[in-house]
Formats: sequence, C-alpha cells, structure tokens
Amino acid sequence: MENKKMTLAELNQKKRAGEKITMMTAYDYPTARLVDEAGIDTILVGDSLAMVMLGHSSTVPVTVEEMIHHCKAVMRGTQSAFVIGDMPFLSYQVSVEKAVENAGRFFKEALCDSVKLEGGSEMADVVRAIVRAGIPVCGHIGLTPQTATMLSGFKVQGKDAESARQLLQSARDLEEAGAFMLVLEAIPDLLAARITEELKIPTIGIGAGKDCDGQVLVYHDLVGLFERFTPKFVKRYVNLSPMIREALLQYKTEVKNGTFPGPEHSFVMKPEEAKKI
Ligand code: KIV
Repeated sequence: MENKKMTLAELNQKKRAGEKITMMTAYDYPTARLVDEAGIDTILVGDSLAMVMLGHSSTVPVTVEEMIHHCKAVMRGTQSAFVIGDMPFLSYQVSVEKAVENAGRFFKEALCDSVKLEGGSEMADVVRAIVRAGIPVCGHIGLTPQTATMLSGFKVQGKDAESARQLLQSARDLEEAGAFMLVLEAIPDLLAARITEELKIPTIGIGAGKDCDGQVLVYHDLVGLFERFTPKFVKRYVNLSPMIREALLQYKTEVKNGTFPGPEHSFVMKPEEAKKI
C-alpha cells in the first residue's frame, strides 16, 4: 500500500500545533528512500549537491539540467515526503518569465512538489509569478550560498539591528508574495524566533537556533560523507567515511589474497558436468 503524501495543509497545521517539521536533503534514489522511510516530512533536493555530490567548490556552477536529473531520481525514491527542488543560480534571476519557465521544469518534468529559491524582498515578484503559475515556492533568506560573494563570504547574517530588520522585512514580503515556507540560514536565534513568531508560514532553520518551526541539514554532513569542511551548525550523527574506507580496504585485501569470493558467494557446478565442458 502506498504511503500518504505530505501536503501543504499538513505542514501549516504542524506549525499551528507547535509540532516541529523535519527536512533533509537528498540527491539520489537510495538516499531519498532512506529519508522517506524515516518519516522525514520534507526532502530538499538542494543545490548543495554541486558541492557534496559533484565536487564543485560552491553551489554556483550547478545547472538546471543537473538539478532536474537529481530531482527525478529523488522523486522515484519518495512516497510520502513533500519534495522541494532547489532552483540553481541564474535560473530565476534573469527575468520573471525565465523563472516561471525554469520552475515549471522542476514541477512538470521532474515532478517535484515545489521549488525553492534564494533571496529576500527583491525576489517577491518572482515568487508571486511562480505561485500564480500554480507552483508552490519555498523562500530562503539569511546566508544565501549562491550569492555568498556579495555577502563577503559564508558569514552569519542579521547580527545587527539594521540588517536584522531587513531580514524580517524580507520574510514578510516573501510570505505576502505567497511563499509556503521559509528557510532561515545562519542567522541569530533571537532573530529567527522573531521571524517565526510573526509569520503564518513555517520557518525551517539551518544555523538559526531551536525556535524555528523545523530544521534542515545537508545529508552528507549528517552522515559524515562530506569531509572538506563542517559548519558550526552541523551535527554529525554518524561518521560513515571512515567506515566506508575500511570496507574498501578490506575488499581490496580479500580480492588480492584470494579470500573473496568464498564458496558462499560462488555458483557451484557438479565436477562431472565441468569435465564435459
Ligand atoms: O542547498 C541546500 O542544501 C540548502 C540547504 C542548506 C537549506 O539550501
């Protein structure tokens, strides 16, 4: 029997009921299956895949084509979670028309349930147009990795009253434009709490403290599969890289010394049959 799909109404209800919302990134079929089976509410096919899956040094180079490819695999592995496809850099900034067209590819080709895009008040018109086309949009403010260079690097945002006020206004504008959810990345906990209290739509924090309506982490950070750097807000629940390294070394040794494959991994043939070959 198929599991029931998470809906926007249920996500809103969780906020009203004070029930925390869970979000996890996934970029491929087996991970999507694991995340979905764990009962995580929402899956983000984040453009972080540029770094953790494709080895780029930032999220900027990933293309719509590459994102769609990964989104399709995630959709094949997902039954219940609400899936958000992340729109990559320059797929929504050039014009409103282009943004709607590209959002449409995530929705119509990859069959994602929604899209996410980075940016504050300046993106309100783009959000409004995509929502008008019938595609749910998740906003993303605070530290926005696609434009980290403009922010002078990967730094906590909204630390002083003036920049905090701007972020609060961005949150209001994105809600007013029709966003169904807002990711708050790397902002002080008190600011995240203030935004969360004021908005009717759920907020999902990453490095934004405990008072957001939900939390998101990058899967590769959570399971220890990305070793280049670990931001302060990451909690590594398991460290798979050393375990995988150990398994690979053991495999190499066993192939070289002839202990793999053993009889239990081989197909037997009666010796008298073998003689007739
Ligand atoms: O791309 C991503 O994984 C993200 C999360 C860090 C929120 O945007």
